Amino acid sequence: MGSLKIAILSRGPRLYSTRRLKEAAIARGHKVKVLDTLQFGIYLESGQPDLTFRGKPLSHYDAIIPRIGNSITFFGTAVVRQFEQMGAYCLNNADSIMASRDKLASMQELSTHNIGIAETAFVRNPSDILQAIQAMGGAPVVIKLLSGTQGIGVILAESNKVAEAIVETLSSVKQNVLVQKFVSESKGRDIRAFVVGDRVVAAMRRTAAGQEFRSNVHRGGSAQPVELDPEYERCAVRAAQILNLHVAGVDMLEGKDGPVIMEVNSSPGLEGIEGATGINVAGEIIKHLEEQIKFGNLDIREKLSLTKGYSVTEFNIDKPLLS
Ligand SMILES: Nc1ncnc2c1ncn2[C@@H]1O[C@H](COP(=O)(O)OP(=O)(O)OP(=O)(O)O)[C@@H](O)[C@H]1O
Ligand SMILES: [Mg+2]
Repeated sequence: MGSLKIAILSRGPRLYSTRRLKEAAIARGHKVKVLDTLQFGIYLESGQPDLTFRGKPLSHYDAIIPRIGNSITFFGTAVVRQFEQMGAYCLNNADSIMASRDKLASMQELSTHNIGIAETAFVRNPSDILQAIQAMGGAPVVIKLLSGTQGIGVILAESNKVAEAIVETLSSVKQNVLVQKFVSESKGRDIRAFVVGDRVVAAMRRTAAGQEFRSNVHRGGSAQPVELDPEYERCAVRAAQILNLHVAGVDMLEGKDGPVIMEVNSSPGLEGIEGATGINVAGEIIKHLEEQIKFGNLDIREKLSLTKGYSVTEFNIDKPLLS
């Protein structure tokens, strides 16, 4: 395939993931620019969506790799959506990035499929709290701030009384809290599967430090490469597909009945996973981007003509192919 013109949307050209994606794109013969997401201007006009960068008209890009941080989700996804409307291929589209940012909404979506998730309750009325805890089989239960990250706001409550008090306290300061069944058999470990397209390209197991039950690296956890069971691999790929993500970091606990999904991240970091596994994950992402542009981004009729040897004119959608 010919050389592509790729833009990486990122606020930090020196961040590990941004640097690695740039290197990998160059290594595969593409032209690549890192563009600061917040320097775009979005212009809407009938029939003519447009973007400026640092106040100047933007040249054409074939493909966009969005690395949208949590703090700029709204503006960042608006920029990605504008690129989509201008015909650039976006690796993870705006709607999917937006949807995956809402942890509760994405769990609600996953729960409609036959896929392992942690039993979770979301209640507001104080009189529902004890009932929610009991629905999880009683303490110990995990209580989570919906807005938490890096293990902050994730609490293990050892007794029903303590669990109730924590939920009540957090609710009283207007925090959204989830009550989740404690998956004790996962013993302070979790799995991060890095999904690109329809496969897991790398996976690691994170293990919590000492008596800690949270395996986050920010909480002192350590990471080792892991050969995933096919069951875990299937689960991760399905979760990414359900949320329509081409690139996803899928976090799973090892439950007694198999994988339990914790979270699906649409801008997963590369440093931890490449460091733990030695796999060129950035290169896999660029390869997938090439395949998408070659096959995935075309009209379905053109796709058929490419893969099955029909020419577009021969292919008649009104008639069955095999008669
Ligand atoms: N229900 C649970 N049972 C057992 N361990 C859990 C459970 N929920 C969370 N943990 C442990 O706590 C860690 C942190 O939880 P979680 O990933 O939900 O929050 P976070 O890391 O703060 O948020 P995010 O992953 O969105 O940044 C997990 O990696 C896991 O090790
Ligand atoms: Mg986590």
